[in-house]
Amino acid sequence: MKIIRSIAEMQAFSEEARMQGKKISFVPTMGFLHEGHLHLIRQARTMGDVLIVSIFVNPIQFGPSEDFKQYPRDWDRDAHLCESGGADVIFAPIVEEMYPEGFQTMVNVPHLSQNLCGISRPTHFQGVATVVAKLFNCTKPHVALFGEKDFQQLAVIKRMVLDLNVDINIISVPTVREAEGLAMSSRNTYLSAEERRSALSLSKALFKVRELFQNGERNARVLIDTTREIITREEGAAIDYIKICDTATLQDVDTITRPAVMALAVKIGNARLIDNVVLKE
Ligand code: PAJ
Repeated sequence: MKIIRSIAEMQAFSEEARMQGKKISFVPTMGFLHEGHLHLIRQARTMGDVLIVSIFVNPIQFGPSEDFKQYPRDWDRDAHLCESGGADVIFAPIVEEMYPEGFQTMVNVPHLSQNLCGISRPTHFQGVATVVAKLFNCTKPHVALFGEKDFQQLAVIKRMVLDLNVDINIISVPTVREAEGLAMSSRNTYLSAEERRSALSLSKALFKVRELFQNGERNARVLIDTTREIITREEGAAIDYIKICDTATLQDVDTITRPAVMALAVKIGNARLIDNVVLKE
């Protein structure tokens, strides 16, 4: 497995692979890899001849009071996991080369970025779309994989690719969960044992909502209230939002008549956790 830090070297590597007729698959990450990431990596392995995983904690997607500095990092473990997942290359650029002095171009997907996490993280998706566009230009993949756990991120990336005619196939991968239901996340490492138990209320509530939906409940208010009730039973869970949105537009819906997503963000201790479940017939 090769480790590449320079953008020029990454581009030359991918250009060479393309010249040889190889198909490049790509999994962008911020590292501190877990089973959710590994799922993407293993699936990507089957979808190309050359597999590139990027590890880059992207400063421009964190707000000024967010956890950029504390974001967990473990290079040796990540490198080992990438290798065991079959990666050919880890692309780990340095911040100064990604964002040199004078950097100013941003990719903005305004409507899809506005609701849900966009309310409390107004510059987040612009940072994500911009870094993903840059990573695509560095790694030149044919196919790139993203997790459904970050539902809004996935929608933003798909829209960007469509709008800018980016010639990359975007594949979405279902959320990987712990046995008890908690969606895997690098930020779960911020949780104490007790907070981890409280965090189980998120998936518990979402599964309950899915069951109510399957039994015919279509009123968003009822489903949201049920979720709020389950989560607020836990001491120390601060709800950022619980919403039901149209999967295509990410705008709030009152009555579910088309595929919808219940998405939530809850702060437990120092961890801001997100999760979602798709509600469709
Ligand atoms: P990160 O949080 O490291 O996630 C990298 C990829 O793994 C994303 O596509 C995310 O949706 C996926 N993922 C994370 N947890 C998952 C889980 N439990 N099940 C399935 N997939 C999961 O998302 C980012 O990094 C960044 O925003 C990035 C796209 C790399 C841009 O900086």
